[in-house]
Amino acid sequence: MRNSFKGLRPFSEILFSSLMQAEKLSNRGSLMKPKVLVTREVFDEVLNYLSQYFEVTSNPSDIPMDSNTLSEKLYDKEGALITLSDKIDATLLSRCPNLKAVCNIAVGYNNIDLDACTKARVMATNTPGVLDDTTGDFTWALILATARRLTEAEAYLRNGQWDGWKLKQFLGLDVHHATLGIFGFGRIGQVVAKRAIGFEMKIIYHDIQEVPPEIEKACHANYVSKEELLAQADIVTIHVPYSPATYHLIGERELEQMKPTSILINASRGGVVDDSALIDALRKGTIAGAGLDVFENEPKLNPHFLELKNVVLSPHIASSSRNTRVKMAMLAAQNLVAALNGKTPPNLLNPF
Ligand code: GLV
Repeated sequence: MRNSFKGLRPFSEILFSSLMQAEKLSNRGSLMKPKVLVTREVFDEVLNYLSQYFEVTSNPSDIPMDSNTLSEKLYDKEGALITLSDKIDATLLSRCPNLKAVCNIAVGYNNIDLDACTKARVMATNTPGVLDDTTGDFTWALILATARRLTEAEAYLRNGQWDGWKLKQFLGLDVHHATLGIFGFGRIGQVVAKRAIGFEMKIIYHDIQEVPPEIEKACHANYVSKEELLAQADIVTIHVPYSPATYHLIGERELEQMKPTSILINASRGGVVDDSALIDALRKGTIAGAGLDVFENEPKLNPHFLELKNVVLSPHIASSSRNTRVKMAMLAAQNLVAALNGKTPPNLLNPF
C-alpha cells in the first residue's frame, strides 16, 4: 500500500511547500523594492506614495540627524528624501556605496555638494516652482510687518504698555508708492514685484543679467545697478540663491549705501547678508529696520537680533503653507521615483 504512494508527497508537505513558495514570492516583491530613507518627518500621503515603489525607512521623530547617523542610515539605501539640514558632501557619499539619488525638499540646495554628487554618480534634485507664490506672499508679510513695525507694536500691547492713542505712536514707513528694490529677479523676485503693483510702487531690480523686456513689462520693473538699487530703494528685498558669489552680498558697505529710512528684507538664505554687519547697522540707525526669515548658522541665530526692536524675525517659514509644503515634499518624492526607475528626474541639478 505504502509503495503505491511512492513518489507522491503528503498533502501537508505540499501545503507547507506552497506556503513557503508564496511567502518567498511576496518577500521577493518587497526585497526587490529599492531601499530609501526619508530623513525628516513628512506628510502621510508622501510616505504612502513612496511606499508603492520603495522599502521606506523614515525618521518620524523629525530630529535632524548628524552626519555620522545620516551616513549609517544611508549605508544600504539607494535614495533619500532630504531637507536643508542634511549635509550631502564627499565624505558622506564615500560611506554610501548604494546611493543613486538625493532629493531635496527645498528649492535651495546649498546643503548639497553637487560636484561631489556628480563624481559619486548620485543624482541631486530640488523643488523649484511650487513655492514661488507662497514665498512671495510671505515676503510681503515681512515687508508690511517691518515697514509698519507690527511685531514691535504687538509686543508693546501684549506687555500691557499701551495707555492710549498717540499721534506719534509707532510711526512707520509707507509701503504704497515707495520704491521697492529687488535683488535677484528669478521666479520669486518676480512674484514679489507683481504683488507690488497693487501698492503702486516704483519697482527696480538687480541681477547678474537683465530679464527679457516682456518680463520687465509684466512686473512693471526696471533694471538698475547694485549701487543704484541700494541708494534708491525704500525697501530692499533679497531673492538670490546662496552661493559663494552671493555670500555676504549685503554687508557693511552695502548697508551704508542704503537710505537711513529704508528697510531690508531677507527670505532667501542665511549668509547672503552679513548678520553682524546688519546688527550694527540696525543698532546705529544706518537703516531703519529689517525683516528676516533666514540667518547665518540656523537655527542658532545671532542672539543680538533678539535685543533689537527694529527687526521682525521668523524661523525660515517663507514657503510654509500646508499646500505648498505638501507640494514640495511630493515633488521631491516624484524626483526620487523617477531617479530610481532609470528616468531623468524632472528637477535634476547635476549632469548625468
Ligand atoms: C527653502 O528655504 C527652500 O529653499 O525651499
